[in-house]
Formats: sequence, structure tokens, C-alpha cells
Amino acid sequence: MDKLIIRGGNRLSGTIPISGAKNAALTLIPCALLTEEPLTLRNLPRLADIDGFQHLMTQFGVSTGIRGKRPEEFGRVVTFEAAHLTSNVAPYDLVRKMRASILVLGPLLARAGEATVSLPGGCAIGNRPIDLHLKALEAFGANIELTQGYVKAMAPDGGLPGGDFDFPVVSVGATENALMTAVLANGTSRLFNAAREPEIVDLCNLLVAMGAEIEGIGSSDLTIHGVKKLNGATYKVMPDRIEAGSYACAAAITGGEVRLEGACEADMHSTNAALKSIGVEIESDKHGMTVRADGQLKATNLSTAPFPGLATDMQAQLMSLLCKAEGTSVLKETIFENRYMHVPELARMGANIETEGRTAIVKGPADLTGAEVMATDLRASMSLIIAALAAEGETQVRRIYHLDRGYERLEEKLQLAGADIERVGDE
Ligand code: EPZ
Repeated sequence: MDKLIIRGGNRLSGTIPISGAKNAALTLIPCALLTEEPLTLRNLPRLADIDGFQHLMTQFGVSTGIRGKRPEEFGRVVTFEAAHLTSNVAPYDLVRKMRASILVLGPLLARAGEATVSLPGGCAIGNRPIDLHLKALEAFGANIELTQGYVKAMAPDGGLPGGDFDFPVVSVGATENALMTAVLANGTSRLFNAAREPEIVDLCNLLVAMGAEIEGIGSSDLTIHGVKKLNGATYKVMPDRIEAGSYACAAAITGGEVRLEGACEADMHSTNAALKSIGVEIESDKHGMTVRADGQLKATNLSTAPFPGLATDMQAQLMSLLCKAEGTSVLKETIFENRYMHVPELARMGANIETEGRTAIVKGPADLTGAEVMATDLRASMSLIIAALAAEGETQVRRIYHLDRGYERLEEKLQLAGADIERVGDE
């Protein structure tokens, strides 16, 4: 397994290109199952999770063609074609490696009238049930069975009638599965308290480009008028707001100035508000954002929430930044029950953080020193990289396969901004 070696102290400057959004791509790819025609996605990030999803799609007989990108370029163009489905079963050994695989449940049900998908296990940040996915599909008329670790969803003869579902808890994935099911139902479906993340808007925009009829896009109340058939499309994946926010924290903790090329400020209001409250300067234009932090960072209080609130996927990265801020910061993680696993590793680098349930108290500025640390989950891994960039001495981050799931060629991008970072094989 590879590891990353970072020598802290360099002030980041330069331009970092922002890739297509992992969490948009993972819901756009299964849309290929909804049509017999080719779906071409541009700006797909080169990530382990995207490769994994592409492999999963071949399980159903989907052909995937990677087009025209030179190896040194970021991103790729991939055409998915599901002219004939050869299976509607997503097996355990594929789903267990990537829980986003559950996002094939709705499209397979909508297209084939039946879908059997292994139940995704929990993961490091929480048990992450899928009850809301299943309740939404049942509200549309599906029959759901749970047998031997698999969920089997079946439409009645004549197809799904559609229906209404009011989400008791905001769920990104359940909203995505519901949308990808309702678009081919026989009638009209309405979702209340649906997730409003930019990735949901990206999904709605793709579905509309394929011929779906959706009202209320961007709001928490969505109305979907089912259509008989969807067409293929060519669509560009939105930029990754979490990747951009992560590199903004990296620039800020080093007192640097970095241009985030392609970042979409409109998707990042809550992240940018958090950064500005810490004393980071942000200038945006239609092609990206410039982040600068040449003064003392200031403590602040942050609480994660569903969009438009502060993304839970930004909590660990902002915590690292706050380790260098003057004063005491209070963070509240309201979405997942176990999303502080970066704390013990940051403490080994000299951070002063106490956690009590879903609250973390960060006191700064801490004198961070390099250490050998272990990545535990995707965003926790990034928080260790951010801390290492400002730490005295060398940090070795192991198990960086977690990072490769969500950050395209991370060390190359940080090297572009002057970081002293290299990837080496782990003996
Ligand atoms: C998506 O996960 C993202 N993943 C996560 O990003 C992100 O943290 C999360 O949304 C919240 O924004 C992808 O898009 C692939 P949820 P998802 O359903 O859909 C509970 C990253 O780092 N819940 O919005 O699984 C759940 O336990 C990843 O890129 C139920 O109770 O998240 C959680 O407490 C990590 N029942 C809350 O809702 C359900 O059926 C929000 O989960 C579904 C969810």
C-alpha cells in the first residue's frame, strides 16, 4: 500500500484545477440504466470509486467506453450504454466495497421492474441505514423484500404507479434513488423534505436533459411526472465543491494564496462563510475562486447541516484549519454519529482537541509537528494532509487508498501549488 510523505512549512501558491464532483458522478453514472441509448459523461474524475462504479455497471451488461483523454490530463469522458440489461443483481462482493452502489437500486427497478442489491454494510463514519431509500420506493408502489443480506425491489405488473413521500430525515442518497425511480413511473410523484445538495440539482439537470419532467429543482419539494422513456445525453459533471473546499483549507493553513480553477462559488456559500469567519479571504469569478490567508486565523463555531448548511464532508478539513486558529472553536457534527476519527490522529500531531459526543472543542493555535499517522476514512485522511502541510517536520500518512477514493491525483495537485509532498510505496 502506498503512503504519502509531507514536509510541512511551504506556503502554498499557484493554481489547483478542480475535478468533477465524486458525489455527483456517483449518481449520474447509474442514470445510464434508465435508457437504452448512450449516456456520455464529461469531466468524470479519475477516482477509485468511479472506477468501481464503472465496473459495477458492467455487471448489468452496460458497455463503458473511455474517450479521448491523455493520461496526464485530469478527468475523463466516458460513454455508458445499457441497450440490453443482462442482469439486475448487484452482488455483495461489489457493493461491500462501495456503499454508493445502492444507487443502482432505483434505476434498475425503474428500467427492469425488478432489482436485487446487496445491503451495503455500515462504514467508518456510521451505520448508514438505507431505510429511507426503501420507504421512498415503497411509496411509489414497489414491493420490497429483505432476504439473505439482499434487498429485492419489484414493481407491480404494469409498472410503478408513483406516489408521495415525505422524508423524515434529509437523505442525499435516498433522494437520488427516489428521483431515479420516479422519472419512469406511470404517474406523478412528489418528494417532500428532499435533499437540496448541488449534486441533487446536477442529477435533476441530467434527468431533464434525458427527457424527464421534474418541477422544484433546487428546492426541498420535488414533483416528478413519470415519462414512458428517457433518451441518452451528453452531460458535464459539476465541479467538486468538497475537493475545492479541502484545497481552500490547505491553502489557508499554510498562509498561502491559491487559485482553485473551476470551483463554483455558488455551491460553496456555507463553506466560504466558514472560511471567511476564520479570516480567510476569498475572491470568486465565473471560472473559479482565489483563496488567501496571510493574517492570523481566528477561532469560530461551526455546525454541519444538510445543504444549504455546512457540509458534513467539510468538517474534518475545517477542524484541521482551526487547529492553527487563535482561540477556542466549537464544532458540532449533526449528520453522522462517528465522524471524529481524525481527532486522535491530529492529536498525535500536537492538536488540542476534545470531543464529547457530536461536539468537538478545538484550542489553538497548536504547534503541529509531523508524525506517522493513519487514514481512516476519506475526509479524515484529507484533514491529516492539511495538518501536515502546516506541521513542523515530516508526516507520513498511511492507508491513503481512502484518499484515492475521493481526491483525483492529490499529490500532483498539491505539488502544483508548491507543497513538499510525495507518494511512495509502503514497504
Ligand atoms: C452522501 O451520503 C454522500 N455520499 C456523503 O459523502 C455525504 O457525507 C452525505 O451524503 C451527507 O451529505 C455520496 O453522495 C456518495 P445521507 P449518503 O443519506 O447519501 C441517515 C464523502 O465523504 N440516513 O444524506 O449516504 C444517515 O445515517 C461521503 O464524500 C438514514 O437514517 O448520506 C445519516 O445520518 C461521506 N436512512 C443521514 O441520514 C437512510 O435511508 C444523512 O445521510 C439514509 C440515510
